[in-house]
Amino acid sequence: NRNVITIPVVVHVVYKNDDEKISLSRIQEQIDILNEDFRARNSDAQFTPDNFKNIIGDAGIEFRLAIRSPNNEVTNGVTYTLTNEPKFFLKSNNVKYSADGGRDAWDPQNYLNIWVCDLDQYIGYATPPGLGINKTDGVVIRYTAFGKTGATQKGCELGRTATHEIGHWLDLAHIWGDCNGQDECCSSCLDDDGVDDTPIQNRCNQGPIDFNSNVQSCNGVSSLFVNYMDYVDDRTMVMFSKGQGVRMWGTLQFARKQILN
Ligand code: ARG
Ligand code: ZN
Ligand code: CA
Repeated sequence: NRNVITIPVVVHVVYKNDDEKISLSRIQEQIDILNEDFRARNSDAQFTPDNFKNIIGDAGIEFRLAIRSPNNEVTNGVTYTLTNEPKFFLKSNNVKYSADGGRDAWDPQNYLNIWVCDLDQYIGYATPPGLGINKTDGVVIRYTAFGKTGATQKGCELGRTATHEIGHWLDLAHIWGDCNGQDECCSSCLDDDGVDDTPIQNRCNQGPIDFNSNVQSCNGVSSLFVNYMDYVDDRTMVMFSKGQGVRMWGTLQFARKQILN
């Protein structure tokens, strides 16, 4: 029986106006959603198609807002930064630098940094674990897709963009394999996500999908379209697999083990 790992989180809100300056209660709501999703305690997990119910995995990972800052001061685990930048960009990572109108990371060896801001083009992105952890490590979520109350991004109203991005941060690939990072919905039955219990899938699924559908994938295999690492709408994604949980747990024992100290 594995223990539960708790990850300290800091949320950096970088805003220009009241809409973008999301409330503390909405931030706690997002943390609560993560704690349901990563423990398979979300009530909609019950809608997983019957043929996949046995692979639903409790990843054994929980999140809590930091209670000490890097200077060891008491904190609520949230920073607010007023900016002049009209938009932030994946390419430049400008939200991660105070000098560029964003906010510097708290030491990513000790915290999961989550930036919330207005993002150009993307609703979220993440840094997978790599060789050496640097100042850009963490996840970025567009303010319209963060939390639930007041989240207006179409298809992303239930706080699952953060679930998906933190999956990437813990080394999960898109369930369809994304053709070695080539992209986005790439269609091939040759590449995979490196996780054994998720079925091979030839491309991403999108939009809302009725839970009763049998979406066919490679070689007539049913697709696990309800997975958090697919591209479906938040209301359709309801589970990690056991294998994905093991992979994320492994990331916390090796590539990201320093965050547990
Ligand atoms: N496009 C983003 C990514 O690949 C996030 C997709 C999240 N999907 C969702 N329904 N919230 O990392
Ligand atoms: Zn993704
Ligand atoms: Ca697989």
